[in-house]
Amino acid sequence: MLTNLEHLGLAVKDLEAATTLYTKLLGKEPYKREHVASEAVDTVFFQVGGSKIELLAGTSPDSAITRYLEKKPEGIHHVAFEVDDIRAEMERLRAEGFQLLNEEPKRGADNKLVCFVHPKSANGVLVELCQSIN
Ligand code: CO
Repeated sequence: MLTNLEHLGLAVKDLEAATTLYTKLLGKEPYKREHVASEAVDTVFFQVGGSKIELLAGTSPDSAITRYLEKKPEGIHHVAFEVDDIRAEMERLRAEGFQLLNEEPKRGADNKLVCFVHPKSANGVLVELCQSIN
């Protein structure tokens, strides 16, 4: 079951500049900075009520975020929903005909197991499912 809009992922070129901007915009400091080596990204997280803003910057030329920003402007990169059972949701979405980008849940930022749904099968939106690791 999808239980919450967990976060919006924003692709940015200059993480420090974007962090300064979002600190002003949201009126609060980020609660976490994390490098995700497996994705070659640096992330900064802000809590906003029950949801979060995740700033994402690529740290290598072959990072998915770096490649994304070669084709598209900065902005919303993905929409993430919290799920209570990621494997069950992956199974449900596969049965509904959605194309998943991960065969198995993988370790994401902010202590989550994650799986992505291809934007081609979700009206042009990259959708992330995430389940907290306790
Ligand atoms: Co995300």
